[in-house]
Amino acid sequence: MKILGIESTCDETGAAIVEKTSIGLTILSNVVASSAILQKKYGGVVPEVAARDQVKVIIPVIEEALVKAFGAGGWKWEVGKRGEKLDSISSHISHLTSKVDAIAISYGPGLIGSLLIGLETAKALAIVWQKPLIPVNHLVGHIYANFVGQFPISNFKFPMIGLIVSGGHTDLVLIKNHNKFKLIGTTLDDSAGEAFDKVARILGLSYPGGPEIERVAQQLTIDKEQLAEKFPRPMIKREDFDFSFSGLKTAVVNRVSQLSDVKGQISAIASEFQKASVDVLVDKTIRAAQKFNCKSILMGGGVVANTLLRSQMTDRASRLSIQVFSPSKNLSVDNGAMIAAAAFFVGGKIDPLKLQADPGLHF
Ligand code: KG4
Ligand code: ZN
Repeated sequence: MKILGIESTCDETGAAIVEKTSIGLTILSNVVASSAILQKKYGGVVPEVAARDQVKVIIPVIEEALVKAFGAGGWKWEVGKRGEKLDSISSHISHLTSKVDAIAISYGPGLIGSLLIGLETAKALAIVWQKPLIPVNHLVGHIYANFVGQFPISNFKFPMIGLIVSGGHTDLVLIKNHNKFKLIGTTLDDSAGEAFDKVARILGLSYPGGPEIERVAQQLTIDKEQLAEKFPRPMIKREDFDFSFSGLKTAVVNRVSQLSDVKGQISAIASEFQKASVDVLVDKTIRAAQKFNCKSILMGGGVVANTLLRSQMTDRASRLSIQVFSPSKNLSVDNGAMIAAAAFFVGGKIDPLKLQADPGLHF
């Protein structure tokens, strides 16, 4: 069975074809267009900028996913020629739609303008192509990104702990079974990704901030490391599984305002901030896995691209015989493959005319 997954909850527009066989999930194509370059000058996602770009790219992105999965059948199709005009799926490749069994769409949480573009496109295609439409919670999609390319999928043993760390979310979730999720902790203020983005801006680094913080932190030399002062680990001692990142961000602001030579300290501050954030994320996740007797941790969301987070989580977990799964970098950020992947397990088709965007959707 093959599902076309469509993702447009924030500034990415994704379409992918994922195939499920008896042993697992394989990606046939996974195309993502991001408006991050357009957002750079604003230092964050401007919803209107994201949505206007998505209107232009969504059809070409879906076309590209179809062609990459099934071939253009002799028709000369130019990859990357996106957004020049609003067009229907080209008549040259319309026959490819017969190879798709269902369409999956992330219907929330996210920005309402972005959500509507993905949703209305998916609804229209489901009606015209006469395919089942499967609604997927974007956060659940981040969890199922881990299932892609893991063979056999029977390796995943419930219960499991999910950690979703993105620009919009920092959630710890107990996964009791497919479609049985319980939110056990969340952020009380900023999300982890938001904190990375804001701290990057304070340090004069560009958007998105996570990769920038990671890059400059890696430039830290040993002499500067010794000078670096530690930042607080907010709520690390609390028994619950909630997070808070705004105090950590304020600590960075205060440090920067006291320094006469900020430039010379950027890598030390970035590194210390990264260490503090990762310590809290790892500590709470491991404690949750122990408390609920979980032998697997599934990570998801853009911040999982962070190398320190991946390695520290794996190190701590392996000492307790807990296995950590984290998607490859291109599956950690928003993409259509994770939406298609989730649709195979959480299922449930819906009448396209009844499906509505849900910007505040949670577990
Ligand atoms: O999941 P995602 O692509 O979009 C949302 O749903 O929000 O996550 C984007 C977030 C941004 O805040 C970005 O700064 C962060 O993921 N991020 C990282 C890294 N790469 C992306 N944070 C830390 N380290 C990274 N290497
Ligand atoms: Zn996301």
